Amino acid sequence: MDKNILKESNYSINKAVKYLNCGKLVAIQTETVYGVACNPGNIKSIKKLYELKQRPAFNPLIIHVNSFKMVEEIAYADKFSRLVMEKFWPGPLTLILHRKKSNLIHDFAISGLETIAIRMPRSKVLNNILLRFRKPIAAPSANESGYVSATDAQHVIDSFGKKIDLIINSGRSFYGLESTILDTTSKPFEIKRLGVIDNQKIENLTGIKINPFQFKSKDNNIKPNSPGQMLKHYSPITPLKINVLKPKHNDAFLNFGTKIFIHHKPSLNLSKKSNLDEAAYNLFDYLRKLDKLNKSRIAVAPIPNKGIGKTINERLHRASI
Ligand code: TXA
Ligand code: MG
Repeated sequence: MDKNILKESNYSINKAVKYLNCGKLVAIQTETVYGVACNPGNIKSIKKLYELKQRPAFNPLIIHVNSFKMVEEIAYADKFSRLVMEKFWPGPLTLILHRKKSNLIHDFAISGLETIAIRMPRSKVLNNILLRFRKPIAAPSANESGYVSATDAQHVIDSFGKKIDLIINSGRSFYGLESTILDTTSKPFEIKRLGVIDNQKIENLTGIKINPFQFKSKDNNIKPNSPGQMLKHYSPITPLKINVLKPKHNDAFLNFGTKIFIHHKPSLNLSKKSNLDEAAYNLFDYLRKLDKLNKSRIAVAPIPNKGIGKTINERLHRASI
């Protein structure tokens, strides 16, 4: 095993905290996807992170916290956003709030915005690190900007190799898709990125009206509805085509269910049982695997557009542009 990758343990967690304290970058599993963590109060480590990911400076980071007290130090939350936090945290939901100036968050980590995206993760390893670090942690997904997200430690190695100071291997991420982003600075609140939790679920549990996600087309790509949410994203290097019923001879096929072309080679099946949660869990892993085959095209079978299938389709759509 590579030297910069360690299994999750007391030793690796302490090492991660030490590294974060001295401005180094550490890849950590979260319940959604792997993130590259840095200290958002340290300009040098933020710069290192943007350079590692080749991330445009206008794309702000998500800040991870482990207490409401920590939220209060860096943001203003009204009673409605607090209610959402109480119902969904810790978990795969990020809230955009008005930012409170603080030494804990450098302007550069949030692209100089007046708002800030915050999430309290459920991930055990990240919570252990937050507990010992005792400050917020910035962690964008652990992939090169625009490429397929990482859902296990090997994906992080494939993306960054030795360029990252430490990777903690905690196995696969539970969901396999990024957190839902809810903007609470606009009224009504609005979903800015589809994820595991949908607007209906938030409305049901809180009674607050939530505007659904606005799908973008190529025409409004110039003005992303969330900074950095460029239309093309999550993209393998191999061109990708969605809603394919009949793969071509030279395609790498990403199938779903057992209704069509189960004998095509090469192919991977997101879920033979047609289970959308399983498909979400496998999505990024299989896209990376098929990308490695260097075929002329990755063809993807239709995925039912309901529940988490909507998020899968949104990711695939953006990967196909
Ligand atoms: O599940 C997740 O959210 C993962 C794990 C690691 O926590 N993180 C993640 O981070 O997906 P990233 O950097 O890949 O995506 C963050 C998204 C970007 O699209 C960014 O534009 C948006 O959050 N964002 C951050 N701050 C924002 C703000 N103030 N307003 C609107 N969007 C914001
Ligand atoms: Mg990302």
